[in-house]
Parts: sequence; C-alpha cells; structure tokens
Amino acid sequence: MNLLRILLLSTSTVLVHGRAPAGPWDAFNFAPKSKTVYPTAIHSVHGSVINPQQLVLNAGSTTIATRGSWIALDYGVEVGGLISLRFDAVTSTSAISLSFTESASFIRPTASDDSSFPSANTTYDGVLRVPAPLKTGFWTQPSSALRGGFRFLTIVSDSDSSVTISNVSCAISFMPHVQDLRAYSGYFYATDPAFHDADFLTKIWYAGAYTVQTNTVPLSTGRKVPFAPAGTWANDANLGVAGPIIVDGAKRDRAVWPGDMGIAVPAQFVSTNDLIPTRNALSTMFSAINPSTGALPESGPPLSQLGSDTYHAWSLIGTHNYYLFSGDTSWLQQVWANYTRAVAFLEGKVDRTGLINITGLRDWARLGGGGYNAEGNALLYRVLTTASDLANYLNNTALASAWSKNATALKTKFNAAFWLESAGLYRDNQTTTLCPQDANSFAILFNLTTSAPQASRISEGLQKNWNDLGPVAPELPDTISPFIAGFELQAHFESGNDARALDLLRRTWGYILYTNLSVQSTLLEGFTANGSLSYRSYRGYNYDPAYTSHAHGWSAGPTPALTFYLLGLTITSVQGKTWSLAPHVNGGVPNAEGGFETPLGWFGFKWTLMNGASSRALTVRVNTPSISSGVFKVPMGMGGKVTMDGGAARSFMEGDEIELQGGSHSVLLQQSA
Ligand SMILES: *[C@@H]1O[C@H](CO)[C@@H](O)[C@H](O)[C@H]1NC(C)=O
Ligand SMILES: *[C@@H]1O[C@H](CO)[C@@H](O)[C@H](O)[C@H]1NC(C)=O
Ligand SMILES: *[C@@H]1O[C@H](CO)[C@@H](O)[C@H](O)[C@H]1NC(C)=O
Ligand SMILES: *[C@@H]1O[C@H](CO)[C@@H](O)[C@H](O)[C@H]1NC(C)=O
Ligand SMILES: *[C@@H]1O[C@H](CO)[C@@H](O)[C@H](O)[C@H]1NC(C)=O
Ligand SMILES: *[C@@H]1O[C@H](CO)[C@@H](O)[C@H](O)[C@H]1NC(C)=O
Ligand SMILES: *[C@@H]1O[C@H](CO)[C@@H](O)[C@H](O)[C@H]1NC(C)=O
Ligand SMILES: *[C@@H]1O[C@H](CO)[C@@H](O)[C@H](O)[C@H]1NC(C)=O
Ligand SMILES: *[C@@H]1O[C@H](CO)[C@@H](O)[C@H](O)[C@H]1NC(C)=O
Ligand SMILES: *[C@@H]1O[C@H](CO)[C@@H](O)[C@H](O)[C@H]1NC(C)=O
Repeated sequence: MNLLRILLLSTSTVLVHGRAPAGPWDAFNFAPKSKTVYPTAIHSVHGSVINPQQLVLNAGSTTIATRGSWIALDYGVEVGGLISLRFDAVTSTSAISLSFTESASFIRPTASDDSSFPSANTTYDGVLRVPAPLKTGFWTQPSSALRGGFRFLTIVSDSDSSVTISNVSCAISFMPHVQDLRAYSGYFYATDPAFHDADFLTKIWYAGAYTVQTNTVPLSTGRKVPFAPAGTWANDANLGVAGPIIVDGAKRDRAVWPGDMGIAVPAQFVSTNDLIPTRNALSTMFSAINPSTGALPESGPPLSQLGSDTYHAWSLIGTHNYYLFSGDTSWLQQVWANYTRAVAFLEGKVDRTGLINITGLRDWARLGGGGYNAEGNALLYRVLTTASDLANYLNNTALASAWSKNATALKTKFNAAFWLESAGLYRDNQTTTLCPQDANSFAILFNLTTSAPQASRISEGLQKNWNDLGPVAPELPDTISPFIAGFELQAHFESGNDARALDLLRRTWGYILYTNLSVQSTLLEGFTANGSLSYRSYRGYNYDPAYTSHAHGWSAGPTPALTFYLLGLTITSVQGKTWSLAPHVNGGVPNAEGGFETPLGWFGFKWTLMNGASSRALTVRVNTPSISSGVFKVPMGMGGKVTMDGGAARSFMEGDEIELQGGSHSVLLQQSA
C-alpha cells in the first residue's frame, strides 16, 4: 500500500516536468550533456607542461614539470562543482594548487577570482592547495571548498619536482535533483536578421535559462558567514528550510535574494518549470518573519540581511508569481497568515499622505531610495494588486477588495506625487528631478501609468539614459544594471515600443554574451558604463572587479521577455486556465516560436510575419490545454481580415481581442492595405 502510493507520487512528479519538442533550438542550450564535465580546451600553458592537450576531454596524462609552471583549462561554459583528478605520478615533494575564475580576465596561478569578500587587490580568495604529500590515485576537492561558478581552472606546480595528472573532471553541483540538465520543459526560437548573429535571440533566451540553473543549488552549499579568512573560501553554509533552493548567483553570494527572484523565477518558469527551489526559497523567507513586526528579511541565511522594504515587497510579489505558475494552493494556505502580516507591515508604513514612507533602506544597490520614494511606492502598488488577486483565489473577497481599493488610491497618489511633466517621467521623490530607471520601468509594467501615450513617453524618456551598451542608471551612476534593464526591456514591449525593446536587448545582452570579459554562456551581474567589470566598485564592492558575478539570475530578463512579449504567450490566471497571445511583431523580427508547460499541460505558439508589397500577413499556430481558454490580440498596425481554422474571414482592428478555446488553432491575419 505504502509502496504503491510512493510510486504514484513519483509518477505524478515526473509528469509535471514534460519535455519541450526537439528542434534546432536545442543546439543553443548551454547546459552540459553530462553532470560530469571535462575541459573542452586549453586556454594557455606557462613554463614546462608536457602533453597539455591530454587533459581536454580526458584523453590522457599531462605532466607539470617545474615550480611555477601552470596550465589553464577551459570548460567551455560556466560550470560549478567539485574537481576530481588522478595523480598518475608524484614524488614525495610534488605539490600543486588550483585557482578558479569565471572571467578569462582573472586567469592567474596565484589567485582565484573573488567570492568570499571584495578586496581591491582582487586576490582575497587565493588558491586551493592540494594537501601535500600527494598520493597517486584519485583525488576530490573537499566539499567545503566548492566553487559554485567558474569556467577556467588553473593548475600550478608549487614544487621543483614534477607531477603527472589525468582525468580532471568537475562534478556539477547545481540542479542536484535533476539528472538531465538539458531536459527543458519550455523552448524558444527566433531569428534576428538585423543583428550580426541571427541566432542571438535564441542564444540569449537559453543563456538566461542556464544562468538560473546554475543558481539552483543544494541546501548546504551557501557562502559561509562570517566570510572565510583571506586566502580561502567556504561554501558549506545552510541556505534555508529545504533544498534545492534558488540563490542569486553561482559563484556568489549563494544566498536567497527575493528581488533577484523577480526576474529569475519567470525565467525559470518558461524554461525548466523547476519551481520547487523557488517554493523552498519563499518558505525560507516566510519562516524568518519577525514575529513582532511582520518584517521579512532582505536575504536568506546565512547572510540573513535585514532592513529592506523593497526586498520585503519582492517576497510578496514572488509569492504571487509562484502561485500563478504552480497553482500550489496548499502551500499558499500554509504561508497565508505570515503573508498577510507581511502585507500589513508595508501598509503600516503608509501615512496620512497615502504614500509609503520607505524606512528599510537596503535595496538592489541604488542610491537615494528612502522616504516617499517612487520605486518603493511602485512596488507597494504591485504588492497590493497581486495580494488582491491571491485573496480572490482563496475566496477571501473582503480582503481582496480592501487591498484592491488601497491599490487604486495609491495609484492616484503616486501620479500626483511623482509625475514630472517637464521630463515626461516619474521622479525619484518630491524633492528631486532625478528620474530613476527602476520606478519608471515598474510604473509601466505594474500599470501605474494612466494612459498609453503616457507609458510611451516614459519609454522614450528612458532611452535618453542609453549609451552603446545600454541604460546607465541615474540612480546608480556609472552603472549598467541588467537586473533593472530586464524590467526596462519588458516596459518597452509593454508600452508597444517593440523596436526600442529589441535595440536595448541587443545593446546590453549582446555586450554580455559576446564580450571576452564575460563567460559567454551565463549572464553578468552588472558592469560600468564603459563595459568594465568594476560593477558597484564604489557601492559596497570595494573596487574589486574580480568579485562581480558572471552567473546572476537577475540578469535573465530576456528569457521571460522573449516568451511573454516577443512571442507574446502569457498566462493570465493560475496555471494558465486563461492565457493571452499578443505577439510583438513591430520590431523587425520575422518569426518566433516557443512554449512552456504548467500543471495543466503544454502551451505552444508560433508566428510568422510575411511582408507583401502593400501589406503584411501574420500566420499563427497555437496549441493549449483543452480545458483552458484565451484571447488572441491583434497586434498594433495589423488590423485586417482574420481567418480562424480555415473558416470565413472576419474584420478586426488593431488591439482587438479574439476569444479562443483551448486546443489547436491556426489563425491567418491579413493586414488591410
Ligand atoms: C579580449 O580581446 C582583446 C582584443 O583581442 C584582448 O586584447 C584581450 O586580452 C582579451 N581579453 C581577455 C580577458 O581574454
Ligand atoms: C588582499 O586584501 C585583503 C584585505 O581585503 C587581505 O586580507 C589579503 O591579505 C590581501 N591579499 C594579498 C594576496 O595581499
Ligand atoms: C575519472 O573521473 C571520474 C569522474 O570523477 C571517475 O568516476 C573515475 O573513476 C575516474 N577514473 C579514474 C581512472 O580515476
Ligand atoms: C510564520 O511565522 C512564524 C513566526 O511568527 C514562524 O514561526 C512560522 O514558522 C511561520 N510559518 C511559516 C509557514 O513560514
Ligand atoms: C519616515 O519615517 C521615519 C521613521 O518613522 C521618520 O523619521 C521620517 O521623518 C518619515 N519621513 C517622512 C517624510 O515623513
Ligand atoms: C530624493 O532623491 C534623490 C535622488 O535619488 C536623493 O539623492 C535624495 O536623497 C532623495 N531625498 C530624500 C528625502 O530621500
Ligand atoms: C473558492 O471557491 C471556488 C468556487 O466555490 C472553489 O472552486 C475553490 O476551490 C475555492 N478555493 C479555495 C482555495 O477554497
Ligand atoms: C487600506 O489603507 C488604509 C489607510 O492607509 C489602512 O488603514 C488599511 O489597513 C488598509 N487596508 C488593508 C487591507 O491593508
Ligand atoms: C490598469 O489600470 C486601470 C485603472 O487605472 C484599469 O482600468 C486597467 O484595467 C488596468 N490594466 C490592467 C492590464 O490591469
Ligand atoms: C571604465 O570605467 C571604470 C570605472 O569608472 C574606470 O575605472 C576605468 O578606468 C574605465 N576604463 C576605461 C578603459 O576607460
């Protein structure tokens, strides 16, 4: 009886994770085929190293002959885990050290890139010395010395006596609960003929997906706090109430950060639908609520940073994301008491002005931010609208309408307090003319704007912050933040500015994907206006470019943006019982296809735009669960005759919504000449 129940449970778990159809997009999936990976190339060799090529794909043995000689191995993409190798021949005085780095900029025999602590000397972490005397046979790195993210491994001889090694592998530690890292439940494919690499959009979608996978880690692999002493690192701290769990970065900080999840989790949903690590992260935040105030921590343990009203808001917004994607009602009911107390905590900071006075000042690194601040108020608005939605799902209609009423009142106050007509943007607070990237992007995305022309003006205003590499955030000077740019990207699409959205995507994420400063597979946490790795140098990172993370889920904005906007497939109620198809066809991309799954089943969509001599035509194929229903939105500029499943043609205007039942449909839209 018990055995049967276990079998039934495990079958249903497997069923929840379906596999996306195979196709040309699979060639762009960055995830390794095996959980044991070998170097794919030699980056460089210094001094006396005999047969270095033998270490590529485990072909044979290599000898490092003299003190100070070293070999830098390239795993091809970002990886993370424990190194094993075989000592084939050693002497009693042989000695070696290992150093790790994500960026090729920090390949060196003397130190890894930094993960323990930022230091201007860039060498805080140091190297991992293999304990001497060496013994012939198999050796594995101690688990506390886990490196969660790197692409290059340098092996250096610390002795005049030679050492011969082989079989230098890395056992991938992320995604511990999944055997086949490439078995995604969703996919995306589009060609971008306007860019130097026509496969860029597909590549960046998969780069975001893989980044989130590298951030999905075993419970006991957090960065140790207090940080390990200089010259070392330690990643064996407990990260929360259950694992696996989603953290902010592969190399660091290796802790739960709810703001980061505002981007990473939608990326996770459309690619792997691997939401258990997200549930574990949110449970960790709710379990650590302050019992007397209702405040949630800013980050998970062992950092357990306190004092951020905005990250508190993100835990609440993240609860809505998780529920919408999963429909996990029993979990929502478990956290509901703490969730409502946490909403009340923010509502308690709304004073007689009707605005929230932000007093928990920690945030995503931006400057300013306290008091009656536009970003904080925008996040509270999103908390209230999503809280109202969740209360409706739990049939608590009184609470739903109370939150909704307060949201409506806040929207009016927000526009009165922050709109700066002369700039065509919202200002950071009532005593400044600085118009921040975060609040303006949020205002469009969260529907704080009061008209479509206003939203479009903001989109245009945000573009004024751009240089060749993307938006330089007014609220964090000299910084391009792919986290906030991920919201800006969606805001340009949301306001109907498809070409501007794609322009931003190519600038910022084109830079990240191709620059040889990055790992060219997972996504950089941030960079300076001139593209250097000195992100946040003057803002907590102690002028240490080696500390910057190259696999940060908060930079994965293109993954959900391409699925939800360019392709145009979104769910509009829990698990996709209702959905919307609103392709963004006005940016010059001629076709897109993709899909994802929810517990209701598969959602697939494909569109192709054909340019005729005088008008355009759009063909659409859609496949959704039969018990669902949705709408197809006629794209802007595309009003005309619509033929559904080969039936009679009917006329529709741009923006019209055509109702569709679940199942398979084909739609042909012929634009009026
Ligand atoms: C990146 O490419 C430039 C130009 O080829 C080269 O000078 C530089 O050393 C490279 N940087 C890295 C980290 O490989
Ligand atoms: C680098 O700086 C840290 C202090 O931030 C210091 O503890 C460490 O010893 C320095 N490393 C080297 C190799 O000098
Ligand atoms: C080579 O490494 C793999 C992966 O760590 C291990 O399973 C295998 O036993 C090793 N082979 C030898 C001969 O050491
Ligand atoms: C709710 O908060 C209390 C502390 O007030 C905590 O003990 C409890 O574990 C939390 N419940 C959940 C489900 O996180
Ligand atoms: C916000 O609240 C803090 C703490 O209560 C208070 O010191 C500050 O004056 C308030 N700010 C405004 C603008 O009222
Ligand atoms: C208002 O915003 C500006 C720009 O972000 C900031 O420098 C200033 O400290 C803020 N003022 C208050 C009262 O928070
Ligand atoms: C809310 O009410 C609907 C309709 O009666 C019901 O189907 C649903 O199960 C209820 N939801 C919860 C969480 O109780
Ligand atoms: C709505 O706002 C009012 C005024 O700030 C506040 O007293 C009330 O608690 C809020 N309602 C809810 C459900 O948060
Ligand atoms: C945006 O807010 C307005 C009210 O200010 C509302 O009428 C409209 O339905 C909202 N749009 C969405 C998509 O929720
Ligand atoms: C790029 O910007 C950083 C930080 O502002 C600065 O330290 C560096 O010198 C700049 N690099 C170049 C090549 O201008």
